[in-house]
Amino acid sequence: MSLLTNSLSLLVLLFAVFLSFHLINPTQYYIKIFKDYTFTTLSSSLPAFPAIILSYRHGNMHRHHKDRPDSGNAGSICDDFPAGIPPPDTNTTSYLCVDRKGCCNFTTVQAAVNAVPDMSQKRTIIWINKGIYYEKVTVPRTKPNITFQGQGYTSTGIAWNDTAKSANGTFSSGSVQVFASNFVAKNISFMNVAPIPSPGEVGAQAVAIRIGGDQAVFLGCGFFGAQDTLHDDRGRHYFKECYIQGSIDFVFGNGRSLYENCQLISMANPVPQGQRSINGAVTAHGRASMDENSGFAFVNCTIGGNGRIWLGRAWRPYSRVVFALTTMSDIVAPEGWNDFNDPTRDQTIFYGEYNCSGLGANMSMRAPYVQRLNDTQALPFLNTTFIDGDQWLQSNI
Ligand SMILES: *[C@@H]1O[C@H](CO)[C@@H](O)[C@H](O)[C@H]1NC(C)=O
Ligand SMILES: *[C@@H]1O[C@H](CO)[C@@H](O)[C@H](O)[C@H]1NC(C)=O
Ligand SMILES: *[C@@H]1O[C@H](CO)[C@@H](O)[C@H](O)[C@H]1NC(C)=O
Ligand SMILES: *[C@@H]1O[C@H](CO)[C@@H](O)[C@H](O)[C@H]1NC(C)=O
Ligand SMILES: *[C@@H]1O[C@H](CO)[C@@H](O)[C@H](O)[C@H]1NC(C)=O
Ligand SMILES: *[C@@H]1O[C@H](CO)[C@@H](O)[C@H](O)[C@H]1NC(C)=O
Ligand SMILES: *[C@@H]1O[C@H](CO)[C@@H](O)[C@H](O)[C@H]1NC(C)=O
Ligand SMILES: *[C@@H]1O[C@H](CO)[C@@H](O)[C@H](O)[C@H]1NC(C)=O
Ligand SMILES: *[C@@H]1O[C@H](CO)[C@@H](O)[C@H](O)[C@H]1NC(C)=O
Ligand SMILES: *[C@@H]1O[C@H](CO)[C@@H](O)[C@H](O)[C@H]1NC(C)=O
Ligand SMILES: *[C@@H]1O[C@H](CO)[C@@H](O)[C@H](O)[C@H]1NC(C)=O
Repeated sequence: MSLLTNSLSLLVLLFAVFLSFHLINPTQYYIKIFKDYTFTTLSSSLPAFPAIILSYRHGNMHRHHKDRPDSGNAGSICDDFPAGIPPPDTNTTSYLCVDRKGCCNFTTVQAAVNAVPDMSQKRTIIWINKGIYYEKVTVPRTKPNITFQGQGYTSTGIAWNDTAKSANGTFSSGSVQVFASNFVAKNISFMNVAPIPSPGEVGAQAVAIRIGGDQAVFLGCGFFGAQDTLHDDRGRHYFKECYIQGSIDFVFGNGRSLYENCQLISMANPVPQGQRSINGAVTAHGRASMDENSGFAFVNCTIGGNGRIWLGRAWRPYSRVVFALTTMSDIVAPEGWNDFNDPTRDQTIFYGEYNCSGLGANMSMRAPYVQRLNDTQALPFLNTTFIDGDQWLQSNI
């Protein structure tokens, strides 16, 4: 327990450093800081946890405002807690609040989720204060219509460190697992801080979030991991202005999803000049048959970071991914895509690119099955119509 608490303290400290540095060089620093997180979760020589936070970590799980620790005393740790949080419930929306120091309803995100009534048709907004919440969180199928509202993806995060090995399979390794429909997350990060797998290591892949419910929305969110960061499992999902970091297959699953204005950052090892090896892939989409209407569409995104990577690997035979109006750095390998070393998939996969730019978007050496989409072919993938947004998106945001 104390090791865990100590790790948490370091994560928080590093996050503060991360915050102050990311202004200088965001992309480089996010990659660096994630490696540091990983290192510290392994380290046994951790500095002491700041006493002021420690004393409230094990406080009551169901505090109300009037029970805030030290309330009324000068210099209370809750003095800078914003007034009016949580706001009063309305006919259509309920509010709950999470704060690590015990300054409002709950100290863990899971406790707040548990407090949401089953099958509520009201939206419940769970307001989550700054800090890293070191816990594994499940939003069960019986709790639709929940919103996680963070204070910024560089200051609020949920982190855990399960791996495929420790969790009995990749699919259950997620730090956060969402099985409910109509889930929304704003301005918060999802992280898996397990050690970065060494090349060829078995069972070390580690999911940050699994999104297994329909009609989910992520606005201004961060996804931090290495191999298999974002499990876009199934259902229709919308991601806008998100930061997604990983190495191998870091957006994977069988979802039907639109990613708009997102940053895709590879943290695969740099490949020495002159070496041709590939050590990462942005996507591994899992469409298995012609009858499935799933696919990943990336529009107006950027691809950067380190390594030499594919845009996608054909995890299943009908894998479907489109990159449109996306800027790609030279880390994208000239052939662009990979058929999972199964040429029979070349006839069934759908890999398209449309009006992309940057050194990595040069299509002259692309694999033969890759499609240069024309305006008509690209149209279905370019906006929220791809995910039937007119049916549900506005009512969720
Ligand atoms: C997760 O971190 C804790 C605390 O550092 C450690 O005891 C545990 O072994 C880690 N789990 C995995 C799967 O690495
Ligand atoms: C959360 O805190 C607010 C403000 O103190 C209070 O009115 C509300 O009843 C609390 N909700 C729960 C579920 O504890
Ligand atoms: C909320 O519900 C109450 C009781 O059903 C009703 O009197 C009130 O008009 C409703 N308010 C709004 C804004 O719909
Ligand atoms: C709540 O979720 C159900 C589906 O489970 C959906 O039909 C409904 O529109 C949602 N309500 C709100 C307020 O988001
Ligand atoms: C582990 O996963 C296997 C296959 O998915 C399953 O059969 C088994 O029951 C799981 N074990 C535990 C402890 O969850
Ligand atoms: C996220 O945070 C930024 C900066 O604080 C703010 O401008 C924006 O409105 C927030 N967005 C959401 C969806 O919460
Ligand atoms: C493309 O993404 C950039 C960066 O997120 C944003 O500033 C710009 O407005 C986006 N363009 C469109 C057409 O949405
Ligand atoms: C895409 O590029 C084609 C030609 O290269 C051009 O005609 C078309 O206007 C561009 N579309 C967008 C949305 O930029
Ligand atoms: C694209 O790559 C080819 C082959 O490497 C090269 O000849 C060509 O100049 C490149 N085009 C651009 C626009 O960089
Ligand atoms: C786009 O490509 C499709 C399929 O090859 C073709 O039928 C169509 O005429 C093309 N449209 C334009 C505008 O070039
Ligand atoms: C999306 O694009 C389609 C095809 O161009 C268009 O009919 C539709 O109105 C657009 N939807 C939105 C929400 O912009």
